[in-house]
Amino acid sequence: MPPLHHHLRRQLRPRSRLAALRTRHVLAGFAFCLTVLYFLIRSDESTSEMDLLERRMNSGPPSHPYTVVKSSVDWGSIEYRHPPPPQLAQLPKPPKRAGQPRVQHRFRKESLEARRTRDERRAAVLKLTQKCWDSYRKYAWKRDALLPLSKNGRDQFSGWAATLVDSLDTLWIMGLRDQFDEAVAAVAEIDFGHSSSPQVNIFETNIRYLGGLIAAYDLSGREVLLQKAIELGDLIYGGFNTENRMPVDNINLEAAINGSGLLVEPSVVSASPGTLTLELTRLSQITGNPKYYDAITGIVDLFFRGQNQTLLPGLFPMFVSMSRADVTTGRTFTLGGCADSLYEYFPKMHALLSGTDPQLAALTRGFMDAAKQHLFFRPMIPHEDDILMSGNVQVDLGGEPRLDPETEHLACFIGGTFALAGRLLASDEDVEVGAKLTRGCVYAYRSFPTGMMPERIDMIPCGSRGSEEPPCTWDEERWMEERAKRPEYKPHLPKGFTTAKDPRYILRPEAIESVFYMWRITGDAEWQEAAWDMFQAVARGTATETCNAAVLDVTVAMPQLPQEDYMESFWIAETLKYFYLVFSPPDLISLDKYVLNTEAHPFLRPVP
Ligand SMILES: *[C@@H]1O[C@H](CO)[C@@H](O)[C@H](O)[C@H]1NC(C)=O
Ligand SMILES: *[C@@H]1O[C@H](CO)[C@@H](O)[C@H](O)[C@H]1NC(C)=O
Repeated sequence: MPPLHHHLRRQLRPRSRLAALRTRHVLAGFAFCLTVLYFLIRSDESTSEMDLLERRMNSGPPSHPYTVVKSSVDWGSIEYRHPPPPQLAQLPKPPKRAGQPRVQHRFRKESLEARRTRDERRAAVLKLTQKCWDSYRKYAWKRDALLPLSKNGRDQFSGWAATLVDSLDTLWIMGLRDQFDEAVAAVAEIDFGHSSSPQVNIFETNIRYLGGLIAAYDLSGREVLLQKAIELGDLIYGGFNTENRMPVDNINLEAAINGSGLLVEPSVVSASPGTLTLELTRLSQITGNPKYYDAITGIVDLFFRGQNQTLLPGLFPMFVSMSRADVTTGRTFTLGGCADSLYEYFPKMHALLSGTDPQLAALTRGFMDAAKQHLFFRPMIPHEDDILMSGNVQVDLGGEPRLDPETEHLACFIGGTFALAGRLLASDEDVEVGAKLTRGCVYAYRSFPTGMMPERIDMIPCGSRGSEEPPCTWDEERWMEERAKRPEYKPHLPKGFTTAKDPRYILRPEAIESVFYMWRITGDAEWQEAAWDMFQAVARGTATETCNAAVLDVTVAMPQLPQEDYMESFWIAETLKYFYLVFSPPDLISLDKYVLNTEAHPFLRPVP
């Protein structure tokens, strides 16, 4: 068949008036066909996965009717000894026009074969999640966590059904309508006036419970979820009833109820105050009540003012003092545990506020530049892959930063955060750094015989740090020298590793989280393959009769790895959700529409 434009040109040459008329008809017909085709393609695009899901999840009345039981304490009406100032900070107005940089890759239609593979993998993740949810329902209903071996439950997060609340949006995203309705009916009865422990941890309560309720509300629009989010948000808000209006780390429930004021701890991990911002800002956005946002502006201001005053400008010490409002004194720096989500929330707040607060862009830029300079290192490994790991730094008394090449599974979130921030701040270089960091964690997974990465490991930085391109040739003798200095070294460790200080894998999400971001941001098939390898290894290695359990040592292959009788709520909330999303159409929870909190709960980004 001749190419189309030849065909057209021939038709366009009028030979007579009749021919011209005919040509016009042909052209009109052609234009009509094009228009129909255009709308067909358009409508194919607009019946997105998300639309289909919404239709399915919202059709008909809830399969489990409920009555809302108010919490036994009315957290919204406490008289505070230390009330906020009369003039509350207001949410910045979203910009008039959508000017946010695009985050997700522009995906093209996939081949039939790619789609078949993706569907199979997605079905495998769904099947495992259903099995876990059924077990939670059967053995640990309304408890905080499932004990997968003893088939029981445990309450360690105040006893408000942490796994249930944490799993709500996963159930919704996976289209499990009946399970979702049943869980929502259970949420309607939670009493946030009672806790199984006298102290309520503000960080965990915020990211798991409040984040879970807000996201489930943003997705489903069920009013009861907003009602419960406000009850809990008001409890967390009570954590700011302190002399300097900085939040406590643990809320003493009795003291919070009588309103007489709470005492701020002298020293807390930086992630604790730093990880309240996104949830409380979103709560102000969906309720129209500015008080939650007002409460966190003090925290953002404090970190912004201290940004260049620390021993590693741009980064913050692992421990900060909210009682002295001091985030600059301290010598230990890390992006791993204790600090992680402080940094993660700078670009995510930037996204949630549509780029309207320049402090957040400055905090993001500042920490990323400092991390590249001081914390990231290229490890010396046998095949010399160009990967990056995130280590820790101790600044000695002379002011000299010393890198400790220890990394941990918790730090694996940073690749995804770099890629996201790279898109938001229009820096391709940072997306590339994010890819190298993510490849570092994928490498660690693949290096161990179980296909899983240990909680905590040490490697050897290439060459001397500070030089732009350190030499990175594999030097077996140097590996032997370095490992000899480590009492934790074990002869079975793979080449390049000098310790597996903590050899467990406790169902953590951070590595698949970064793989998910890399996939959505670059569209590179490498990441779907990495995700599938990880899923198979993790599903196999942690399997139990009921669901999945933490394992004690991933550095030795055995038919049955020694297990721990525990399943963290983040297994369903985060790990399985990220696996599922990697194998779903990319418009399901698009990163251009949602920003995910540190527990993988998607919050809608406001549109102008
Ligand atoms: C409020 O509760 C705290 C903690 O139980 C207690 O120490 C304090 O005396 C109470 N104050 C009032 C006014 O009841
Ligand atoms: C800290 O330094 C960076 C880079 O020079 C700058 O962009 C930022 O505004 C500074 N922060 C403060 C609070 O001065």
